[in-house]
Amino acid sequence: MTSSLHAFPLGSVVITGAGGQLGSELVRLLGSSAVPLSRTDLDLRDPLAIRDTISRLHPAAVINCAAWTAVDAAEQHADDCFAVNATAVGHLAEACAATGSRLVQVSTDYVFGHDEQRSRPYLEDDPPAPLSVYGASKLAGEQAARGCPRHLVVRTCGLYSAAANGPVRGRNFLDTMLALAATRRDVRVVADQICTPSYVPHVALGILRLLAAHAQGTFHVTNAGETSWFGLASELFRQAGLPIEVAAIASHEYPSPVARPRYSVLDTSRFAAATGSHLPSWTEGVSDYLQASGRVARSPSTPAPLDSRPELERISCSPSS
Ligand SMILES: NC(=O)c1ccc[n+]([C@@H]2O[C@H](COP(=O)([O-])OP(=O)(O)OC[C@H]3O[C@@H](n4cnc5c(N)ncnc54)[C@H](OP(=O)(O)O)[C@@H]3O)[C@@H](O)[C@H]2O)c1
Repeated sequence: MTSSLHAFPLGSVVITGAGGQLGSELVRLLGSSAVPLSRTDLDLRDPLAIRDTISRLHPAAVINCAAWTAVDAAEQHADDCFAVNATAVGHLAEACAATGSRLVQVSTDYVFGHDEQRSRPYLEDDPPAPLSVYGASKLAGEQAARGCPRHLVVRTCGLYSAAANGPVRGRNFLDTMLALAATRRDVRVVADQICTPSYVPHVALGILRLLAAHAQGTFHVTNAGETSWFGLASELFRQAGLPIEVAAIASHEYPSPVARPRYSVLDTSRFAAATGSHLPSWTEGVSDYLQASGRVARSPSTPAPLDSRPELERISCSPSS
């Protein structure tokens, strides 16, 4: 995934949250078709700025990657969190409706979680029931995005990307594990939260595939398979060849102000049907992350990194599509 598309056909794509993990990768993939907007270019808490910016740029699509993503802090700052994750999305939806632009709202598996007995992947139409302020704010953001006639709500999960991929702040779970491995021989990691941690470049390509397929509605876009944070850390250290002992602990042994879903795997069949494709497995995500970080990943999951260029060259996105 080292290439970018420098002439995304038929229209510009505004990327909000362009300095974040997902936003920066989409900007890289879209090349000159991207209109990257960081918080200093467009603060989403300013409704007039949203309206004026979208009206002036008249983009083919807006991919909203901006969000309040500090899950724990959201419990104490619910108004601030909702302002970005929900209210602002409503303003984006209005602005996109006025220009006829498509709106892609990125959401999360944390809109689910109340069902403690759950053991099979969530479908897009399963009733959401968030456990946290962050999850509730993202659910409200989904509902707000649906106010735009040409909307796409993309739920994803456990995002991580390699610092080498862009201006990422090195604070995702894998970065943290590798930093810990530099100073210690053992780590304790939660083993009773099951989801599908997903590698940002894979998810970014999945979003562009949905746009290319003119998909509308709600879709789940994650790597394939499922694991726990314990499983992810173990696989990371195994592939990186680091002799770190990983101890499995229960969620209650890792105090947090927020209840997180015990099981929030997302069913991606709708994505597969719409795009005719699947994203790689989560172990391949780890492999690609390690390679992008300048480390050599070990087998079995060491295929060549997903090459997006031939595919991106076929992708088009127009206001009339
Ligand atoms: N990270 C995950 O594990 C995960 C999992 C599932 C879904 N998601 C969703 O995926 C999307 C992308 O996540 P990510 O990991 O790329 O997030 P991220 O790295 O935290 O990036 C979020 C971006 O939003 C920007 N932002 C925050 N408040 C803003 C405001 N008021 N106006 C404009 N920009 C603002 C941030 O700018 P600053 O740098 O200036 O703060 C940052 O660039 C989000 O919708 C998130 O909810 C994430």
